[in-house]
Amino acid sequence: MPVVLGIETSCDETGVGIVSDGVLLGDALATSMDEHARFGGVVPEIAARAHLHAITPMVRHALDRAGLRFGDIDAVAATAGPGLATAVQVGLAAGKAYSLSLGVPLYGVHHLAGHAAVDILDHGPLPARCVALIVSGGHTSLLLLGDLARDPVTHLGDTADDAAGEAFDKIARLLGLPYPGGPAIDRIARDGDPTAITFPRPMTGPTDPPYRFSFSGLKTAVARWVERHRDRPLPVADIAASFQEAVADTLTRKALAACHDHQADTLLLVGGVAANSRVRALAEERCRASNIRLRVPSPRLCTDNGAMIATLGDLLAAADISPDPLHLSADPSAVL
Ligand code: KG4
Ligand code: ZN
Repeated sequence: MPVVLGIETSCDETGVGIVSDGVLLGDALATSMDEHARFGGVVPEIAARAHLHAITPMVRHALDRAGLRFGDIDAVAATAGPGLATAVQVGLAAGKAYSLSLGVPLYGVHHLAGHAAVDILDHGPLPARCVALIVSGGHTSLLLLGDLARDPVTHLGDTADDAAGEAFDKIARLLGLPYPGGPAIDRIARDGDPTAITFPRPMTGPTDPPYRFSFSGLKTAVARWVERHRDRPLPVADIAASFQEAVADTLTRKALAACHDHQADTLLLVGGVAANSRVRALAEERCRASNIRLRVPSPRLCTDNGAMIATLGDLLAAADISPDPLHLSADPSAVL
C-alpha cells in the first residue's frame, strides 16, 4: 500500500501527516497561533515565516512517529488552496521539493476536501453519497458529496457573509476572550446558560434560502446586546453559551433539512467549528432523532492538520488520479 506524506500550511498551522490505506501512521503539528494573538487574527507574513521554519522539523517528526524514512514515501500531497497565499505557497513549495527529490508523484489538493476526507481515519471509507457541512474559519458550506476523489461536489449553500468560525473569533474578541475564539467560547460557555439570551437564528425564516448561512447579523445582535448592557458587569459565560446555541441550532437545523431534502442518510460534519462541543452534541441529538448517521471526526482532526491532506492524497492515489505537474500554482481562492 502506498505511503502518502501530507502537508498543510493554509493558515497558521504547519501540519504534516503520513497515511497509508486510510490509516494514520504518524503526524506532527506546529502552530504560530501565539504570534498572531496580539493582532486578533492571523497575519499572513508571520504565518508564512513560521511555516518555513517549522516545515522540515514537522516532516521529520511525523516520519519518526511513523517509524519511517524518507525513502518509504510513495506520494506527496500538499494543500494548494484555498488559504492565505503566502502560507499556502510555503507548504506547496515544500511538497514539490519532496516530490522532486524523492522521485514520487505530487498531488496539490483542496483544503476543504481534506477536511471532509479526514473522517476516513476515524470512521472508515466514506459512503457513496452524503451531505457534508464544512464549518471552518473561512468557510461555511453545505455540500452534497459523492466519491471525493472522482465526483464533482454539489454546493447546496454557503455563507452570504462571515464563516461560522469567523463569527466565533469575532464574538470572542468582543467579549475579551483570547484568540482563537472558538475554543475560548466553547470553554467559557460550559459555565453559562444557553437560554439566558435569545439571539437570532439567521436565515431560518420560511422564505429564506434553506441552505444558505449568514452570521454577520448574529454578530451585530450580540454586539448590540453587549452595548446595551455596558453599565453592568457582562455575563460573559451566558452571552457565550447563548451565542454558541444560536450557531449550533442554525447549523444543525439547515444540515438536517439538507439531509431530508436530498434523501441522504449520512451527515458529515467537519472543519474547525465541528470541534465545538455544543455543535457536536446538538448534531448528534438531531441526527439520532431523524435516523441519520452522523460522522464527525475527533476534535483534533477537525481543526487544520496534515493528516487530512495525507488522507485525501491517499484517496487520490488509490483512485489512480493523475498527479499534478511540478509547476502547479497555489490557488488561494480555490473553489471546491
Ligand atoms: O478548520 P480550521 O482549523 O481552519 C480553517 O480552515 O479555517 O478552523 C478554524 C476555526 C477558527 O475560527 C476557530 O475559532 C474555530 O475553527 N474553532 C472552533 C472550535 N475550535 C476551533 N469554533 C468553535 N468551537 C471550537 N471548539
Ligand atoms: Zn481548515
